[in-house]
Amino acid sequence: MTAFDTQALRNAFGTFLTGVTVVTARDAQGEPLGFTANSFSSVSLDPALLLVCLAKSSQNYDTLVNTAGFAVNILAETQVDISNTFARPSDDRFADVDWHAGPHGAPIIDSSSAWFECKMFNVVDAGDHAILIGQVMAFDSTAKPGLGYARGAYVTPSASAAAILPTSKLVVSVLVEQDGHVLLLSDDGGGVMLPETEVGPDETVSSAMQRLLLEAGVAAEPGFLYSVYEDAARKQQHLCFLCQATRCTSAAGVFVPISASTWDDVTDPATVTLLERYAAETKIGTLGIYYGNQNSGKVRAVV
Ligand SMILES: Cc1cc2nc3c(=O)[nH]c(=O)nc-3n(C[C@H](O)[C@H](O)[C@H](O)COP(=O)(O)O)c2cc1C
Repeated sequence: MTAFDTQALRNAFGTFLTGVTVVTARDAQGEPLGFTANSFSSVSLDPALLLVCLAKSSQNYDTLVNTAGFAVNILAETQVDISNTFARPSDDRFADVDWHAGPHGAPIIDSSSAWFECKMFNVVDAGDHAILIGQVMAFDSTAKPGLGYARGAYVTPSASAAAILPTSKLVVSVLVEQDGHVLLLSDDGGGVMLPETEVGPDETVSSAMQRLLLEAGVAAEPGFLYSVYEDAARKQQHLCFLCQATRCTSAAGVFVPISASTWDDVTDPATVTLLERYAAETKIGTLGIYYGNQNSGKVRAVV
């Protein structure tokens, strides 16, 4: 037998990025037991088989190799604490964990990404571990991102990605003008607003604007950029485009004359400022572009 440096071998195995599971079962008294395991693997679809490797040093080794059934809970990214609980010595690992009995009685940990309840299919002796092969009797899975583990540390890809993405969303609004009137929609709270929409993950700014015009039920040419501002209060980056309507009708809103008194009911202060500027600029016939935030910024003339 080749004698390896055990720590070096453990480190090399540890480079393999895995998920994290908690394997659960019942002891002879029916009490729940479980341990953290990343040695999980799917094995077969027909029959539905999976495996997990159990160290012979486990305090529950005898119970687990003789159990008729067990469950594998695939931990979600938010369940690092549960992983730690089931990897450390404890009088009652289930004390602070929400769980329920699966259809066949094995403990199922709530809010996991997925769980598989198995009957024991085979136990294979394998060095200092036993391979528990389970036949899946019931399972469920969710869209919750799974917890990862590599090189002795937890990996939370979705949470990390969310942390580096901008927290604010991109919102496009349109100032649709025709014959001295602008289009306003009801904001469902008793006030009115410009048509606006969040740019979806699969959309471009232009496609979101086209969709917005379609939803506003107005025939209008997509226009030019009129205002760019960060609205810290609403956690939004905001782009407002000026669009010329080809007809002064809208299925979704009403065209009101461009004069301060007609937008008394506009609830968003940044939109009021924008409309006031538009009214003033159209009077003198010079339009500019606004750059700033929801409270203050600069208007640059369009040359
Ligand atoms: C991320 C992670 C993965 C683990 N994977 C396994 C595993 O696959 N098999 C195993 O026997 N122990 C594994 N362990 C170690 C056990 O969870 C740990 O030794 C636990 O205390 C065993 O408890 P027990 O003696 O009550 O069974 C892992 C620990 C962690 C933190």
